[in-house]
Amino acid sequence: MTRPLPDELLRIPHRRDVPFPRLTTLGVGGLCRWLFEPETEDQAQAFVRACVREGLPYRVLGGGSNLVVFGDVDLPVLRLAFPKTLRQDGLRLTAPASYGHIRLSQDAARLGLSGLEYAAGIPGTTGGALRMNAGAYGTELVDILDTYRFLTPAGERVEKRPEPGEFRYRGSFLTGGHVALGYTVRLAPGDPAAIQAKVAENMGKRGTSQPLSTRNAGCIFKNPPGLSAGRLIDQAGLKGLRIGDAEVSPEHANFLVNHGRATPEDFAALMEAVREKVRVFHGVELEPEVEIWR
Ligand code: EPU
Repeated sequence: MTRPLPDELLRIPHRRDVPFPRLTTLGVGGLCRWLFEPETEDQAQAFVRACVREGLPYRVLGGGSNLVVFGDVDLPVLRLAFPKTLRQDGLRLTAPASYGHIRLSQDAARLGLSGLEYAAGIPGTTGGALRMNAGAYGTELVDILDTYRFLTPAGERVEKRPEPGEFRYRGSFLTGGHVALGYTVRLAPGDPAAIQAKVAENMGKRGTSQPLSTRNAGCIFKNPPGLSAGRLIDQAGLKGLRIGDAEVSPEHANFLVNHGRATPEDFAALMEAVREKVRVFHGVELEPEVEIWR
């Protein structure tokens, strides 16, 4: 992107040349050339409107926990930096999109509000959780969603109740220039100690089967219908396959982990090697589950 950015954009808080390893849980990638961090909804709206006016595509970053970046990104990247304040109104909790998803689950437990226990082990922001309709253990966000707020790709601000067809298994329409701003969940009253125990149990379940102490982006490939990507990779004998600092985790084969200095090239080569070997061994084509930026 060689042309200068307009003044409306440059008035929004931003940083230059931020390394993606600092912006993602996996820790792989080049430089984020333009990172815009609006502190208010008005600033976020001004960002989208300025980009629309300039015909400038942009990308939206949340917690960076489901993202693999394969190089430098020249396009403006939006990462909301709203104040992390939670509002309670009876059984309803309202969080801004920049609030931590695990933190929200823990806060609800502390307040004796049940319904977010499933979210205990799912990293990222609440905005990312909304966009992906995060879920686990038979519950997904849309089940407890009361209202949600977002910007359209034209920069209109919308607040609405969820309707059928808007959210699906691990997905929603909030892609392609939409920006999740926040949401309100409707929970059920419960005993704080019992809810906290369930939250701890859900965190623990992941800790025993997934390599959470090594940098990772969660599951890398989607489970093919009726199959488990982790089991397919495991059966192909690929646990421990390593290119540079990128490795197929010996704990869970669908986690490709970064031991510290994995480069985008290492990581891309490891993903391709896994796909190729699973294709040859099982005749199954694995598709990435993570978002990929190149
Ligand atoms: N398995 C193996 N070897 C492995 C890993 C798994 O044989 O190396 C077997 C397990 O023994 C089990 C089966 O594969 O029989 C399924 O494994 P697991 O229970 O770990 O679930 P998964 O299908 O691999 C999914 C989600 C995870 C989520 C867990 C728990 C996908 C692609 N993965 O994993 O989500 O944490 O269920 O709810 O949907 C993510 O989205 O990033 C993610 C990690």
